[in-house]
Amino acid sequence: MPTLQIIVGSTRPGRIAKPIADWAFERCTADGRFDVELVDIADYSLPVLDEPHHPVLGRYEQDHTKAWSAKVREADAFVFVTPEYNYGPPVALLNAFDYLAREWTYAPVAFVSYGGIAGGLRSVQVMKQIVTTVRMMPIPDGVVLPLVMQHLASGQFVPPAPAEAAFAPMLTELLRWTTALAPLRAEGPPAPMMPPGPPPGPRP
Ligand SMILES: Cc1cc2nc3c(=O)[nH]c(=O)nc-3n(C[C@H](O)[C@H](O)[C@H](O)COP(=O)(O)O)c2cc1C
Repeated sequence: MPTLQIIVGSTRPGRIAKPIADWAFERCTADGRFDVELVDIADYSLPVLDEPHHPVLGRYEQDHTKAWSAKVREADAFVFVTPEYNYGPPVALLNAFDYLAREWTYAPVAFVSYGGIAGGLRSVQVMKQIVTTVRMMPIPDGVVLPLVMQHLASGQFVPPAPAEAAFAPMLTELLRWTTALAPLRAEGPPAPMMPPGPPPGPRP
C-alpha cells in the first residue's frame, strides 16, 4: 500500500490544525487505501530556513533539515492540512515546504483547508501554484471547511457531514495520481538546473 502523510500546516499555539489533522488521519485510515501517517511540522522545530545551499542540491547541513527530509522522503502522497492566514498559507507550512525540494517531487498532494467564509481555499490556491515549482502534482479534489469556528464545541472539532463525505473522492483521485506518478517518483527528479561550483558567498 502506498504511504500517505498528513502534514499539519499550522504550528501556532492553540491551533485548530491539530484536531482537524487528527480527524483527517482517522478518515484516511478508515478508508483503507493508504498507509497513513500524521506528520506534525511542530515536531521538527524548523527555524526560518537556515540552510546555506539551494534545496534542490540536497546538501543539508542542519540536523533538523536531515530529520525533516528523512521523514518526507518516506511518503508516496501527501495531504496538507492548512488554514488561511491573510488570504495565503501559514508561514510555518511555507517554511517547511521550502526546506526541501526533491522529497516533494512527482508526489501528488491534496488539501484539507479551513477558515472563514472561504474555507481556506485562497490559501490552497496559493499553495497549488508553489508546489508545482518542485514538480509536485496538486489535485483539485479536497476537503473544505468554511466557517470552521461553527464546528468547534468547547474546543472540540465536530466535523460537518458534507466534509466527511469529501474524503472518499479525494482519496480516489489521490490514489490514481499516486499510482500514475510512482515510476517518475522512483526515477527521481531531473538533474538540478543550478550552476556547478560552490554556492554564492554572503551578500555584500
Ligand atoms: C495571522 C492570521 C491571519 C488570518 N487570516 C485569515 C484569512 O485570511 N482568512 C480566514 O479565513 N481566516 C484567517 N485567519 C483566521 C484563521 O482561519 C483561524 O485563526 C484559524 O484558527 C487558524 O488556523 P490554526 O488555528 O490551525 O492556526 C487568520 C488568522 C491569523 C492568526
